[in-house]
Amino acid sequence: MHIVHISVEMAPIAKVGGLGDVVTSLSRAVQDLNHTVDIILPKYDCLKFSNVKNFHYRRSYSWGGTEIKVWFGNVEGLSVYFLDPQNGFFGAGCIYGCRNDAERFGFFCHSALEFLLQSGFHPDIIHCHDWSSAPVTWLFKDHYVHYGLSKARVVFTIHNLEFGAGLIGKAMAYTNKATTVSHTYSKEVAGNPAVAPHRYKFHGILNGIDPDIWDPYNDKFIPISYTSENVIEGKRAAKEALQERLGLKKTDLPLVGVITRLTHQKGIHLIKHAIWRTLDRNGQAVLLGSAPDPRIQNDFVNLANQLHSSHADRARLCLTYDEPLSHLIYAGADFILVPSIFEPCGLTQLIAMRYGSIPVVRKTGGLHDTVFDVDHDNERAQAQGLEANGFNFDGADAAGVDYALNRAISAWYDNRDWFNSLCKRVMEQDWSWNRPALDYMELYHAARK
Ligand code: ADP
Ligand code: GLC
Repeated sequence: MHIVHISVEMAPIAKVGGLGDVVTSLSRAVQDLNHTVDIILPKYDCLKFSNVKNFHYRRSYSWGGTEIKVWFGNVEGLSVYFLDPQNGFFGAGCIYGCRNDAERFGFFCHSALEFLLQSGFHPDIIHCHDWSSAPVTWLFKDHYVHYGLSKARVVFTIHNLEFGAGLIGKAMAYTNKATTVSHTYSKEVAGNPAVAPHRYKFHGILNGIDPDIWDPYNDKFIPISYTSENVIEGKRAAKEALQERLGLKKTDLPLVGVITRLTHQKGIHLIKHAIWRTLDRNGQAVLLGSAPDPRIQNDFVNLANQLHSSHADRARLCLTYDEPLSHLIYAGADFILVPSIFEPCGLTQLIAMRYGSIPVVRKTGGLHDTVFDVDHDNERAQAQGLEANGFNFDGADAAGVDYALNRAISAWYDNRDWFNSLCKRVMEQDWSWNRPALDYMELYHAARK
């Protein structure tokens, strides 16, 4: 089968959040199943070009009165076509955040379909993602379905219904099949007006992570390679390197890490509370986060200053986006906290487990489907063929997060052998695309029937 993704994000060259990870890792998994996958992406001026191999100009075409240059390159083993309209749409130094985002992404979607048509591509599936490539669904139906692309079927994935629900609702009406990124989130949004009328073609398929991209045995950003066999040694070295890098006291205390976009979705008040709670319980806290909203960023700058005077040796807030540092935190932390108010899937809890860190999460969306509480969820885990792997809580107040965090930190202090065996156990669970990629193939086949 030939699958083409039309997306505005792709890790690691144009990543804002998990959508970028998913486009790359799902494509790699499907390609490994011997299918052909191409990705069409805007050629942003801020692309991380160092991660593109064999980057070169291919040709130009014209659409909507604009010349569009097509560049080609290889990213993580995937073929990527970069569209470069000569109207300056992707020269603003950012992926999102322009006044005319809807216009420039709409233009990108239309020029991507035109590129497929003019290049004589005959994909079986055109897969688009969230509001930013939603226009593909109706542009395809209105302008392309009867022409050279008639063989194609469209699949639309909702990564987050919080943004652009109007556009998503329109896409749901036009797409052949729709997915979202976990089973629980698919139920949570089933009644949403954007989704409800189209439930019959809507499926929850859990995201995976790419075990080669996130691999503590082969990770240039951590001090020693480890697997579940030497997880304790590997994590000890990573914790020391992390403490050294951030100027924290080099002592073995329970270390709670948070790696996140700082937005309402991620449970900002719970994150703040958990940092103080961790310090009260004689732990260390590290946050890596960037806030698109300057008010939230300022709020965290103030908190960082406050912590710097009161707990310089035990807390550090890094208010930026830093891929290498994220790897060191995944490896060096004992716990990764994800107290999201809602979370369609969430990847940080899955990456945490790959690095032997224990997830502490709020029970919502994909967090509910992937984290099974060691005290409450043994049966639910077993039903999935798994063992319990973390700590979770309900509610959206301080008491909820305390309930999970207190049990987690107490386990670290009081029952270290058991805690170490839990680290080993979570590393051995499979959160890769092995299973979900097959589910996507099944869905692609169903879309073609
Ligand atoms: P979302 O897409 O809602 O932001 P996910 O959990 O699906 O949340 O994916 C987040 C991705 O972005 C993960 O790969 C995570 O490691 C990464 N990430 C989030 N914040 C940062 C940051 N400040 N620095 C580096 N990586 C980050
Ligand atoms: C969105 C969601 C997140 C999900 C990611 C990838 O950004 O917020 O939960 O993991 O998309 O699907």
